[in-house]
Amino acid sequence: MNVNIHEDYQSMSKAAANLVARRIISRPDLVLGLPTGDTPKGFYRELIDFYEAGLLDFSKVTTFNLDEYYPLSRDNPISFTNYMYERFFNHVNVSQNKIHIPDGETDRVADECQDYEEMIAEEGGLDLTVLGIGENGHIGYNEPGSKLGSKTRLVELSEESIVREVPGNYDGIINKALTMGVKTIMNSRKLALLASGPRKANVIHDALEGPVTGDVPASILQLHPEVTVILDREAAGDLDGGELMV
Ligand code: GLP
Repeated sequence: MNVNIHEDYQSMSKAAANLVARRIISRPDLVLGLPTGDTPKGFYRELIDFYEAGLLDFSKVTTFNLDEYYPLSRDNPISFTNYMYERFFNHVNVSQNKIHIPDGETDRVADECQDYEEMIAEEGGLDLTVLGIGENGHIGYNEPGSKLGSKTRLVELSEESIVREVPGNYDGIINKALTMGVKTIMNSRKLALLASGPRKANVIHDALEGPVTGDVPASILQLHPEVTVILDREAAGDLDGGELMV
């Protein structure tokens, strides 16, 4: 597990974009797992800058997003689908038929989850998956108590996640999501975990230096052979070995 600690959010975001860019340049048909949330917004901006500078071609990249609220129209402004198009896909040349996001509108949930896993398998598995982390240690929407062998499925959101992450006017309306499972994520050949800000310091300590436990799903990453953790100084604040490394 490589832990890279950066001075601030912008350099953390640049480092994450550099890592993905290097992987795409060395493997133009990369199969890439993608997150949403506040943390990766800078990361997506940096990738768009690379594309606009003619440094990156996304046309052969295949993407799979980690999660989507359910049930929710993909056109709803708070959907992760809307987030991805607004903040990334509308600005680069990923091929439309290579974009995969769990379908928040499906009425065949079990089929959708099985199809998602089959599509990942048909692409040869995930080469690199970029993750954020929830304050309660969730990855994707694998909340505390998630089975370490879980695959893509419909999950109940924790009260904490609803309060912290679901926009106020949807509180009580949205309480479920479709998410890649812990095993789905752990099957990715490489992982990159991004975290920024003092709010994440405690959970980053627990995830990286605490016991491996289903109470902190991100702690399972300690068992993955190829994880790069990219933090800013604030998110690294509670790490025992947390000196600035880059
Ligand atoms: C949501 C997403 C996760 C994300 C987490 C943290 O729960 N499902 O994929 O990592 O929020 O988001 P933020 O980066 O905004 O703290």
